[in-house]
Amino acid sequence: MHESEFPLDDSIIYLNHAAVSPWPQRTANAVKRFADENVAFGSQNYPSWVATESMLRQQLQQLIHAASSDEIALLKNTSEALSVVAYGLPWKPGDNVVITSQEFPSNRVVWESLQKYGVTTRAADITANDSPEAAILDTLDDSTRLLSVSAVQYGSGLRLDLPVLGAACRERDILFCVDAIQSLGAVRLDVQACQADFVMADAHKWMLGPEGIALFYCRQAIMERLDLKQYGWHMLEDPHNFDNKNWEIAGSARRFECGSPNMTGIHALHASMTLILETGMQTIEAQVLENTHFMIDYFSQQSDRYQLITPGAEHRHAGIVTFRPLNETPESLFEMLAREHVFCALRGGGIRFSPHFYTPRKRLFKALEMLDG
Ligand SMILES: Cc1ncc(COP(=O)(O)O)c(C=O)c1O
Repeated sequence: MHESEFPLDDSIIYLNHAAVSPWPQRTANAVKRFADENVAFGSQNYPSWVATESMLRQQLQQLIHAASSDEIALLKNTSEALSVVAYGLPWKPGDNVVITSQEFPSNRVVWESLQKYGVTTRAADITANDSPEAAILDTLDDSTRLLSVSAVQYGSGLRLDLPVLGAACRERDILFCVDAIQSLGAVRLDVQACQADFVMADAHKWMLGPEGIALFYCRQAIMERLDLKQYGWHMLEDPHNFDNKNWEIAGSARRFECGSPNMTGIHALHASMTLILETGMQTIEAQVLENTHFMIDYFSQQSDRYQLITPGAEHRHAGIVTFRPLNETPESLFEMLAREHVFCALRGGGIRFSPHFYTPRKRLFKALEMLDG
């Protein structure tokens, strides 16, 4: 099934799912069908579009094991969802937010921007510490209101132990926010098991969807704590009753979606999610980790030529492996790989390889062979 779903051009070795993924064939077909339908019938079938939107919420609920699809909003991207949280919470001067030292700018800048309200952002140094969770927990104090971490770091590929962090936050009445864009679709994540309050991820990485459609999970019990900054028809309890002058905000996470949904993105992600859920996250995770361990073994055996930036311990792994060449610059090696059509990224001080579960082993092998020169 995988080969026909990913008819990538033979010339390319695609090791860049941590950036932007190729679409599965069925996703392209769904978008083409949606385009043809729009051309021939316009929005005559709008009720079926709304049904697809609702199915997508249920798929995402299943993916993250949310208690209800009412806890899922469909937003533009991860950064927007982080902003909904940062600008929805009531801050007071002296409050602080804890993040880690390796965060992607989206999960740093948004918190630093709260400085104007007297809120400080404290970054736990997880690079130098054998236990990143201990470093994070040591950074929390009595003024910490929220902890926001990436489940998997975009540069190093380090995977955090979310249940440990979530339990500590709940115990101390600290909100727990998870940027899951580098883990959802690659490795399993259970929002209830890790006691997350907020989880966000755009579709275009491991979920194999397009850019511009994102999952935002908000735990029902704390939904009211987020003040709303955007208003419109779609966020109302009865959105299609346009004559209703006594409007009410939706009780569900749809309250975070002010206007018309991104129906093209919804149709595309719905198709990608059918592939992910049919294959099953257990199978996907096992294959992602197999690829990761294959690469880690290779770099560990070549320790005179490469330094692994991704931590060695197995429980720290997801889909990303980052390494630094010792005998040349990462830039020059990256250029060589680009010339050979190995599509990867310069990140985290080295070269980041991020194959997905379907990446054929022979392609991965070929990329490593090229490193051998
Ligand atoms: C950890 C992490 N968070 C957020 C983003 C950006 O997300 P978005 O473009 O959906 O706002 C990225 C993109 O690389 C990322 O790696």
